[in-house]
Amino acid sequence: MAMNEKSTFDGLKAPQAQLTWVKAAPVSAFAENGSGCVLHEGEQIAVFNFTDTGRWFACQNLCPHKQQMGLWRGLLGDQGGEPKVACPFHKRTFSLETGRNLQGEDLCVKTYPVKVENGMVYVGIETSEGQ
Ligand code: FES
Repeated sequence: MAMNEKSTFDGLKAPQAQLTWVKAAPVSAFAENGSGCVLHEGEQIAVFNFTDTGRWFACQNLCPHKQQMGLWRGLLGDQGGEPKVACPFHKRTFSLETGRNLQGEDLCVKTYPVKVENGMVYVGIETSEGQ
């Protein structure tokens, strides 16, 4: 193609991720510093009402250590100002903000944004355009 010809190729477009807010449960279903587990399209999501921080969090319920479902029953805490959950099985701890393992292991968990509107808790699920 000559330099002055206009290309019609606009490159490969990466699929745009969109956030879909999925209804989890009413706020009243969660105890203070309590949690619950939501099933969305076959995926279990742990939702935390971390009242001590005034914030809500969500992450995958599956602990990557021994593939146990149970992070929703984990102990909430704080490590250097970072909110965390400790798996009830072998106490691996994960940041509720980033999902990284706070013991320095490669294991990490997926986290989700959470919002509360009109007394209802919603979890943000990323979907690709066209899903
Ligand atoms: S299964 Fe979670 S720490 Fe082992």
